[in-house]
Amino acid sequence: MITSRTRFAPSQRLLHWLMAVCILAMLFIGVGMVSTVATRYLTLVAIHKPLGIAILLLALIRLPLRLHHGAPALPADLPEPMKLAARLSHYVFYALMIVMPLLGWAMLSAAAYPVVIFGGVHLPSIVPLNPELHTVLWDAHHYLALAFLALILVHLGAALFHGLVRRDGVFEAMAP
Ligand code: HEM
Ligand code: HEM
Repeated sequence: MITSRTRFAPSQRLLHWLMAVCILAMLFIGVGMVSTVATRYLTLVAIHKPLGIAILLLALIRLPLRLHHGAPALPADLPEPMKLAARLSHYVFYALMIVMPLLGWAMLSAAAYPVVIFGGVHLPSIVPLNPELHTVLWDAHHYLALAFLALILVHLGAALFHGLVRRDGVFEAMAP
């Protein structure tokens, strides 16, 4: 649903910025995790798992809000290929915000590792124990993390282009 509002709803803006901080933190924590064999690995993993599951829950709240509230229309003079790129990138973001945590959870399930979140709650396995599947899921989590980071950099560039060069209100639509 596209509305004629000029800004995203406050709940959408709150979730956008909260999740942006969490996702960027997750990418850096993830890279930090796989780059060390020191004991800090355990600390980083202990943050990575619950924060990743929190992102999954927030994405599952955010998606219906997006479907309900819609999005402000993009500027009429924005070239069609740019509008299409914006829409497609937003779909990909939503997919990644849901698929990445599920891949992490499934990857650990396939290796029979515990997925412990807040308050010591153990999540159930979502796939059977299978070392080959674990490798496939690990690779998928790794490459999609790289794609996520690349898309965020393009998104950041586009946001700055709208905010500083075109000054067309697109940045203000999502500004806190
Ligand atoms: C939006 C959510 C998530 C993001 C952006 C993310 C990002 C990352 C990144 C960047 C890495 C390092 C990959 C590499 O360089 O090879 C990683 C590794 C990993 N992630 Fe995630 N992750 C997310 C969710 C989760 C969740 C929910 C879990 C588990 C419940 C999880 C479990 C893991 C594990 C087990 C590793 C590999 C650790 C190792 O091999 O030592 N991730 N993640
Ligand atoms: C780091 C992870 C980020 C993710 C996953 C993300 C995701 C998204 C998504 C999915 C949308 C579409 C609106 C919606 O349906 O919720 C959006 C819009 C927007 N984002 Fe981000 N974002 C991130 C970071 C940023 C940053 C760092 C900035 C700017 C500095 C930014 C600026 C914007 C702006 C201006 C819009 C509105 C674009 C429009 O109306 O088409 N985002 N973002």
